[in-house]
Amino acid sequence: MCLNFLASMKESKFDVIFPLLHGTNGEDGTVQGFLEVLNLPYVGNGVLASSAGMDKVVMKQLFEIANLPQVAYTYFIRNDWNKKQDALIAEMEQKLTYPMFVKPANLGSSVGVSKADDRAELIKAVEVALKYDRKIVVETGVVAREVELAVLGNDEPETSVPGEIKPKTAFYDYDSKYNDDNTDLLIPAPVEDEVYAQLSDMAKRAFKILDGSGLVRADFFVTKDNEIYINEVNTLPGFTPISMYPILWQNTDLPYADLIEKLISLGMERHAEKQQLQYQ
Ligand SMILES: Nc1ncnc2c1ncn2[C@@H]1O[C@H](COP(=O)(O)OP(=O)(O)O)[C@@H](O)[C@H]1O
Ligand SMILES: [Mg+2]
Repeated sequence: MCLNFLASMKESKFDVIFPLLHGTNGEDGTVQGFLEVLNLPYVGNGVLASSAGMDKVVMKQLFEIANLPQVAYTYFIRNDWNKKQDALIAEMEQKLTYPMFVKPANLGSSVGVSKADDRAELIKAVEVALKYDRKIVVETGVVAREVELAVLGNDEPETSVPGEIKPKTAFYDYDSKYNDDNTDLLIPAPVEDEVYAQLSDMAKRAFKILDGSGLVRADFFVTKDNEIYINEVNTLPGFTPISMYPILWQNTDLPYADLIEKLISLGMERHAEKQQLQYQ
């Protein structure tokens, strides 16, 4: 049945697929792998960038290689937590400072993310995060503005104007992401030229170390002293006409329809490039 399905997909005349799917089985490389098997052109990141971008630990390790500044962090798996919780807490308290942010390594939309002000909250936050993943990341919390840039391109990516998110809640949690009343957006974000130049350079380096294709949204923390830390990249950012990624491009003189066309042509370009490769 599976083979029949694959065959019917192959025979149908799709010019290009735009996989606007978020989260698990959407932007984590699985659907992208499926489209690779079918050898269909598709928009956006390939298997490697998608899966590396989905796992916060792998993403941070790649950022380290690219010398991108990030907040201090540690990570562990459920089995370690079950066997040596006290040692892990000691390690976190030695490497990091409260408040800490506890996150499942693979998810998004702030699901399972908590802020912990002390040890009791930390333990609770880890238990929550473990419901969503077997791998957990813990970070030192920073007091900073949240600034995002849209990246567009293949081998020579470009960046949009910056956008700032101002959640009215304690942090940019699930509710503030999906309830417009809880968040203000500042586009373009008021950042000095020098800061923008650094953000743009870092966003492109993040895109390249992941071997990105088409698009990513790069999210940063900018402190009041203009220290910059990369928080994450999103390999398939929200894409409604009121989502940050398309709005950033709209404010960079690239209207929604033109952006979609550009993304489609980037996807077709990647596919065409791959057809030229030899496999033996
Ligand atoms: N180290 C941190 N310091 C301060 N705030 C943080 C930190 N990590 C996360 N946050 C807050 O939590 C939100 C969600 O965390 P994030 O890592 O972006 O997860 P997700 O992938 O679910 O978007 C961020 O947008 C920010 O508001
Ligand atoms: Mg985020």
